[in-house]
Amino acid sequence: MLNFDFQNPTRIHFGEAQIKALSKGIPLNARVLLVYGGGSIKGNGVYQQVIDALGEHTWFEFSGIEPNPTYNTLMKAQEIIKTQKIDYILAVGGGSVVDGAKFIAAAALFEGDDPWDILAKNHPITKALPIGAVLTLPATGSESNGNSVVTREGNKLPFSSPLVRPLFAVLDPSVTLSLSDRQIGNGVVDAFVHTIEQYLTYNVNGKVQDRFSEGLLQTLIEEGPKALAPDTKDDLEVRANIMWSATMALNGLIGAGVPQDWSTHMIGHELTGAFGIDHARTLSIVLPAVMKVRREQKREKLLQYATRVWHINEGDDNARIDQAIRLTEDFFKQMQVPIRLSDVDLGGDDIDLLIDRLKQHGMTELGEHGDITIDISREILTQAV
Ligand code: NZQ
Ligand code: ZN
Repeated sequence: MLNFDFQNPTRIHFGEAQIKALSKGIPLNARVLLVYGGGSIKGNGVYQQVIDALGEHTWFEFSGIEPNPTYNTLMKAQEIIKTQKIDYILAVGGGSVVDGAKFIAAAALFEGDDPWDILAKNHPITKALPIGAVLTLPATGSESNGNSVVTREGNKLPFSSPLVRPLFAVLDPSVTLSLSDRQIGNGVVDAFVHTIEQYLTYNVNGKVQDRFSEGLLQTLIEEGPKALAPDTKDDLEVRANIMWSATMALNGLIGAGVPQDWSTHMIGHELTGAFGIDHARTLSIVLPAVMKVRREQKREKLLQYATRVWHINEGDDNARIDQAIRLTEDFFKQMQVPIRLSDVDLGGDDIDLLIDRLKQHGMTELGEHGDITIDISREILTQAV
């Protein structure tokens, strides 16, 4: 196992009717900015529950954070932060709103010239406003990690800081009942690929991390399709297991002390930046191709994945790996996400643009060994056609 430091201070309030817990999570003298997205929280009762819980607080609101939040939208929040002397951000929504809140919180106290430098130049963050989150879409893990992804003019870039990790997160599975099938499929697949990026690398004898990861993968494989099936889709236990899996998949625990890959995500971000494809749908296209192109480097872990996650015990090593990749693709299809560029009307002609963007963003040494060069990314994208 590799050395690691691990601390996750986000307090989780899990379960039905837990939104009211936020009244105690935020200091009573705080000046709160409630931030949210396009309005889904007004249709499903979440907004009302939040403002009821904020009954004794002084609060303001900022809405319109779009999926794949943009720098331009997020910067608009700075005015109200200044005029109303906001000192606490409450994010209510999916990963885009929580990520957006993190950038807003960091930009508010940024000491450099342009807050975009946080993403474009890895400008260090020294301060950020405190953040709390009410999660409405289980997928990204953003509610209890320090990561955020922001887009500006087609450039979709990540940043990370412990200073923007939410202090608390409310996870009420019942608020996920209003999600569309598309968002359910996206969420399950995103959490699945987060787990894979921290698992499918090389063996360092991290037995706890491996078995946690295998448990999460198996849970998502079991419960994900139930959230799309007519007779089980409203089952709150299904939703609870998906929600907790998605948080656990990217709260730092399973990735501590093991190598990590993230090439599927970095290539996927270019697909979203250039063509607007939903985040998870880029991952379901890129991951099978990564598994195929990197099968030698990942051989030992692919075999472990085949045996422990998919229970494949027959055939020689190559046949078992082939079957594990096939079953992964079948699972993605069951979750109703694309598995090839052609499924989203893209093809070989679009690869040059993606390669240019990867170069421009410095994504030239990806993977657990830093050896996924631009040429190998091209091979992966070609495999994904
Ligand atoms: O904007 P509203 O009206 O809220 O609607 C949203 C949005 O249209 C809707 N939605 C959310 N909760 C709902 C709901 N609709 C009905 N009922 C509910 N309960 O769903 C749509 C998509 O929301 P979004 O927040 O964009 O989805 P997701 O949670 O998948 O977040 C994706 C973003 O997170 C980033 C992605 O790159 C992308 O920008 N990621 C963040 C990560 C992190 N912080 O660690 C890691 C991930 O790998 C990912 O990169
Ligand atoms: Zn993701």
